[in-house]
Amino acid sequence: MNIADDSPYCRLDTTRFSPEPALFFVFGASGDLASRKIFPALYDLYLEKQLPVGLLMIGAARREYSTEQFREIMRTSCMAHSRHKAEALHDEAWHDFSQRIFYLRNDVEDTGSYATIRKLVVERDRSVLAGLGPGAELPENTLYYLAVTPEFFPVIAENLGRSGCGSDASSQGWRRLVVEKPYGKDQQSAARLTESLHRWFEERDIYRIDHYLGKEAVQNLLHFRFANTIFEPVWNRNYIDRIEITVVEQEGIGTRGGYYDGFGAARDMLQNHLTQLLCLTVMEPPASLSPEHIRDEKVKVLRAIPEYSKEQILARARRGQYMAGTDAQGRAVPDYRAEHKVRPDSATETYASLTLSVENWRFSDVPITLRTGKALAEKYSEIVLYFKRPPSALFAALCGDRLATNSLTVRIQPDEGIWLSFNAKVPGEPAIRSNSLRFSYREVTDYFPEAYERLILDALSGDSTLFIRADESELAWKVIDRLEAAWASVESGSNPEEGGLLRYSAGTSLKALRHQIEESPRLEGIS
Ligand SMILES: NC(=O)c1ccc[n+]([C@@H]2O[C@H](COP(=O)([O-])OP(=O)(O)OC[C@H]3O[C@@H](n4cnc5c(N)ncnc54)[C@H](OP(=O)(O)O)[C@@H]3O)[C@@H](O)[C@H]2O)c1
Repeated sequence: MNIADDSPYCRLDTTRFSPEPALFFVFGASGDLASRKIFPALYDLYLEKQLPVGLLMIGAARREYSTEQFREIMRTSCMAHSRHKAEALHDEAWHDFSQRIFYLRNDVEDTGSYATIRKLVVERDRSVLAGLGPGAELPENTLYYLAVTPEFFPVIAENLGRSGCGSDASSQGWRRLVVEKPYGKDQQSAARLTESLHRWFEERDIYRIDHYLGKEAVQNLLHFRFANTIFEPVWNRNYIDRIEITVVEQEGIGTRGGYYDGFGAARDMLQNHLTQLLCLTVMEPPASLSPEHIRDEKVKVLRAIPEYSKEQILARARRGQYMAGTDAQGRAVPDYRAEHKVRPDSATETYASLTLSVENWRFSDVPITLRTGKALAEKYSEIVLYFKRPPSALFAALCGDRLATNSLTVRIQPDEGIWLSFNAKVPGEPAIRSNSLRFSYREVTDYFPEAYERLILDALSGDSTLFIRADESELAWKVIDRLEAAWASVESGSNPEEGGLLRYSAGTSLKALRHQIEESPRLEGIS
């Protein structure tokens, strides 16, 4: 990190949590996530000298690979997806790293295939890892990363548990389970999943991933809010007029039709990433930086979201679906309904917005809009806090609506940073204009670890701050379940203001789409 000057610098407690060596199992090792994200993140951590010495990585899937073949495949993936383009080509580094990678053939539904895992994890039989150097120690800890489709989450947990490989108090070392998204499809299924995982793993050993929480600019929300004195006093209903949280993408759904068509934007994005951003933006200061204190505060936010009636939620929500169009690079985007594995009459939304409030002392009545969409002209994620207008006197009296309100933008990606807009005199003119103070992370550092690097290190350290607790997940689903039920009760062909689905052309700008879909009279004065 380039610390540009001698400004005060405080390294936060690093002794409380530190990553420990483990047997790092990746179920679904031949899949997309493992090859594009997990192994490249592990490799980047290795190159940064952050991976615990002694960590052994074990890829597991049904495909017939030898360990040598799997290493070669991972080499290609890591070279393509590592952040370290130059060093990544370093043969020596790769050779050393790859000697810690092994492959086990495993069908997660076949209970017999867990005997090998047991042999390694419980009986500590080194012969399972053919080629493990004689000097290499078998770590006592075990981490299972479930990079498989969600129907296998309970299956793997159960089979591990029945083989004695779960998080059993009598085991030496810890045994943790990292679970990918989606975590359930509604509140009931999330609760069922939790119940089945809890049979074999303690809640403290379950790490539910929301990779948004691993992003630097998202982690910074707590630092920014609670390490400064100047923002917190205005961070409430007395000063803030409204909050908008936006995550928009230029890409359509690509090859994910099979999954996406059964989910849609609300379940895929609002329930997790946007709700997490909401919690971090409005939560109260936690009693300490301990994971449980932070997660307790997030849960309080979720509990303070009102249980809206169907009518209220329809007035507060909008949904859209992209039609054929052209993306920002001028390439043709097919109609959503013509995408691979999407039903030709699908009413699944690819755009969703929901304006809600958090009815606690700090934020009561402040409208908070969460919005996300695919196949739009822009790609960015940000949180904007709009402050109230100044009193109608002096400049505000003269300018009316032409006097911009102050806003604070937390840009999550791209160009991570924070900017504060304020009004100032235009030099040489009797005029006033909005300007901004901008902080861009890229100007102070070029070190930007991938979200998966942070999350892997934290899971190896036992720091669950950036992972979703079971109650958080369920409460977030509760909000989305109401939204889904309201939409399901309305014909998709109805007027968008009454809950219908607005079809928009791929490549539409968010501004144009909002104009069409959001800024309707029903959103004014919603109750
Ligand atoms: N890809 C992403 O960018 C991304 C992003 C966020 C979350 N996720 C989540 O991550 C998980 C994995 O996604 P993915 O895109 O990597 O899926 P994927 O490419 O379809 O990979 C699935 C993996 O599961 C293995 N598998 C399937 N059936 C199996 C069985 N019966 N026994 C053992 N292994 C089996 C497959 O390997 P074999 O066929 O060789 O067995 C493959 O390695 C999903 O929950 C997804 O929602 C993915």
